[in-house]
Amino acid sequence: MTRTVRRVRRGRSHPFATRWNHNTHYYPLLASLLPTTGSVLDIGCGDGTFGRFVAREDRRVIDLDVDASTVPAASRLQHPVLATAEALPFADAAFDAVTMTMVLHHVEAERALGEAARVLAPGGVLLALGYGRSEGWRDGLHEVRDLVTHRLVSRRMQAWDPPTTKAEPSGTWSDARASARAALPGCDYRRLAMWRYLVRWRKPGVTAPGAVVRPR
Ligand SMILES: C[S@@+](CC[C@H](N)C(=O)[O-])C[C@H]1O[C@@H](n2cnc3c(N)ncnc32)[C@H](O)[C@@H]1O
Repeated sequence: MTRTVRRVRRGRSHPFATRWNHNTHYYPLLASLLPTTGSVLDIGCGDGTFGRFVAREDRRVIDLDVDASTVPAASRLQHPVLATAEALPFADAAFDAVTMTMVLHHVEAERALGEAARVLAPGGVLLALGYGRSEGWRDGLHEVRDLVTHRLVSRRMQAWDPPTTKAEPSGTWSDARASARAALPGCDYRRLAMWRYLVRWRKPGVTAPGAVVRPR
């Protein structure tokens, strides 16, 4: 049985089965890659759904977005900040983890990644989920996998369109990979099914308190 079919069979137990889209699909994966405790900065948080999913007593979330109409209200575990990804209003090494889900195609990617790296503590984890524009036959092959997986997975899910600003990517998948590698030397870039990539980077240095080092 292929990995895709196995994942589809598990579809009903997906935590976002009733609020499903190509981003929420990957929230459990992103959550599993976060340090178990510490502070998380979610850049371009939109309505704060990801922050709500991962926030808990020992993992506070700072929700940051440039759009005042979308930033979620403050709660016990989530703190909203109105700011731009390219000029973060935080000290160096302030966070144990930084997440960016579907934000990099809205911003100057290298600059925003540089800022994200700056505010990350040594040993901390940066996770960026994004997408790109296809060009060439290799991207065409990925698109076939994207489409087939979407057809299989989406029929078990209830589609959800959150009220956040959306944009089409101007850069290609290769551009996204190049800017990630330029801003985050040694980062792991991989294409995921359903038109997404994941960039994963651990900032060199001492491991953040509570961080779990997982094998790749
Ligand atoms: C496609 S939405 C993604 C929202 C959310 N992360 C998610 O997974 O659904 C992109 C978000 O990036 C925000 N954004 C756009 N430009 C930004 C910037 N320069 N700095 C911070 N956030 C920005 C938008 O306001 C929007 O909420």
